[in-house]
Amino acid sequence: MTIGRACGKLILLGEHFVVHGTPAIAVGISNYCEVTLKEAKENGFVGPEGTSQELSKKSISNILTAMKINKKYLVSYGGNLPIFGGLGSSAAFSVAIVRALAKEHKIKLTNEQINTYSYEGEKAFHGNPSGLDNTMATYGGAILFTRGRTEKENKFEPLKLNCDLHLVVGITGIFGPTAAMVSKVAEYKKQNQNEFEILSKKAFEIVQKGKSLLEKGEINGIGSLMDENQVLLKKIGVSIKENEQIIHAMKDANALGAKITGGGGGGTCLALAEDNGHAKEILAAIKKQGFDGFVTEVKK
Ligand code: PMV
Repeated sequence: MTIGRACGKLILLGEHFVVHGTPAIAVGISNYCEVTLKEAKENGFVGPEGTSQELSKKSISNILTAMKINKKYLVSYGGNLPIFGGLGSSAAFSVAIVRALAKEHKIKLTNEQINTYSYEGEKAFHGNPSGLDNTMATYGGAILFTRGRTEKENKFEPLKLNCDLHLVVGITGIFGPTAAMVSKVAEYKKQNQNEFEILSKKAFEIVQKGKSLLEKGEINGIGSLMDENQVLLKKIGVSIKENEQIIHAMKDANALGAKITGGGGGGTCLALAEDNGHAKEILAAIKKQGFDGFVTEVKK
C-alpha cells in the first residue's frame, strides 16, 4: 500500500473574468487529498459519495499510460479536502496518484513532470482543463494565472506571499455547475458588451492591486479587494441566494473580505479572516446559518 498527497486550491481573485483574458490569483491550501494505492487486477476507485467511479478510473488509467506503468491499481480517496466544486479536488487526486506511483516504483520526478502527468489525469474529469488546478496541487503557494489562447500559452507566475492568509471556506451544498456558469457569463458578455468591458477592466485592476498587496503583506487591503470582486461577480449573475447568504454571514462576522470562489452558482464561498481565532468565529457564523465549511490557510 502506498500513499500520495496533494493540496487543494482556491481562487482568491479574478475567476470568470480570467476566461475572457484578465489574470486571476489562486492559492494552494493546507487541505489535501491523500490517496492510497494497492496493486489490483483491474483499476478501481473507492471515494466519498458524489465522486464518479467512471471518471476516477479513467483518470487513474490516463496517468498510468502517461507514466508508462503497465500495472493496475485500486485507489482510495482520503484526506481532508472535500470533493465540492471550486476546491480543485480532482486535480489534487491526480497529483496525489502521480506522487504515490512515483514512490511505489521508485521513480524520481521533478515538479514539472508531476504537473505534466497529473494534467493527463485531470483531463478525465474536465476534458480540456486550463491546467490551473493541477499546477496549484503540485506547487502550492500563490500564482498569478493568465489564460492563453491555447493551453500551451497559459502563463503561471509564482507570487511571493509576505503574509499568512487565514481563510474560511463556506460550502453552499449546491453543486456549482462551472461550465454552465461560464456559458452564462459568455451570454451576459454578448448582451452587455460595454458593461462587460468596464467590469473586466475593474477585475484587472483588482487582481493587479491584489498581487502587489500580497507581496507587501497587507491583508486588510486584500479583504477589500475580495469584496469589490464579489460586486463584479454578482453583476455578471453567478452569485445565487445561497452564495449571498454565506457571504452576508461571513461579513456579519467581520470577515476582512468575502466572495464566491470558483464558478459560483452555488459551489463554495471564501472569507479572509484576521487570524485563526477570527476564522473559527466566521466558520461558526456560517454553520449557524446551516452551511458547512472549514478553516484553512495557504500551503506555502
Ligand atoms: O470552479 P473552479 O474552481 O473550477 O473554477 C472555475 C473558474 C472559472 O474562472 C469560473 C472558470 C475557468 O475555467 O477559469
